Amino acid sequence: MKRNLLSIEDITRTDLDRIIEFSAELKQQRGQMTYTPLLGKSIGMIFAKSSTRTRISFEVGIRELGGNPLYLEQSKMQVGRGESVADTAKVLSRYLHGIVIRTYKHEDVIDLAENGSIPVINALTDAFHPCQVLTDLFTIYEFSRKLDGIKLVFVGDAQCNMANSLILGAKLAGIELVISSPEEFKPSDKIINAPFGTGSAHWEPDPLKAVESADYIYTDVWVSMGCEDEAEYRLKVFRPYQVNSKLLDAAPEARIMHCLPAHRGEEITDAAVDSPRSIVFDQAENRLHVQKAILSLIFEEINKQ
Ligand code: CP
Ligand code: NVA
Repeated sequence: MKRNLLSIEDITRTDLDRIIEFSAELKQQRGQMTYTPLLGKSIGMIFAKSSTRTRISFEVGIRELGGNPLYLEQSKMQVGRGESVADTAKVLSRYLHGIVIRTYKHEDVIDLAENGSIPVINALTDAFHPCQVLTDLFTIYEFSRKLDGIKLVFVGDAQCNMANSLILGAKLAGIELVISSPEEFKPSDKIINAPFGTGSAHWEPDPLKAVESADYIYTDVWVSMGCEDEAEYRLKVFRPYQVNSKLLDAAPEARIMHCLPAHRGEEITDAAVDSPRSIVFDQAENRLHVQKAILSLIFEEINKQ
């Protein structure tokens, strides 16, 4: 596994298979506290945006692996008032053993990784959310016992971080991904056409057509963090893409996924989130096990050096 996890493109199919296998083991062995690859290591967690799942699952996971997590609010650091990302990376590399970062510009995360000498894990940027998608692939594997050939349908904002990472994740895992969104929020050509993995991704504007014979239907908020100024317009334009009973009736076998937080009544109805077909809380739980597997695989390599 590479030292940095900035995007799904940093992961090979072999890495993915190892992450899935190891996440299952860590999930089964939770509470034993005998495996401590992070013993003596301090991991900085820089957050510029809100978080419930990512922050808490990383903090708990780092502790369970024997490490010391430090929650760092980006706005309270000097980088929030003009110190360069590159200088910050050099300084943090003298104190910490790894960085988990959630911020706005993806370029800042690349800058941090390139200028520091410690692993950097992307915990969400405006462009990508790789830890969530690796968790989603693990969760699909748990329910279907396979990834290759699964039909996954994403409905909603096809230009957001989740859609971008799901496209790459589906390609990596051999999944057939259909993305349904309004024309003006179509997936980026660069990502949908990226030559990567064995799966496929294509765009279908009609959500009812898109979900036909789906194994999984996935959605995310219509107003991602940083897009609040466009909220009124987005809530209107995405309305036909709501995950509701009508959409679910068109895909009777499909399980329902959401990275959460859900904005109930907007992108998804109460009936859909709370349906027996919903696996959204399994996804949330799995963030912990999968991030522990990612950290373990990265630090096992480093501990060998
Ligand atoms: N899914 C996810 O990343 O949730 P948080 O924003 O709560 O971390
Ligand atoms: N697209 C959402 C994901 C939240 C986990 C956002 O960026 O706000």
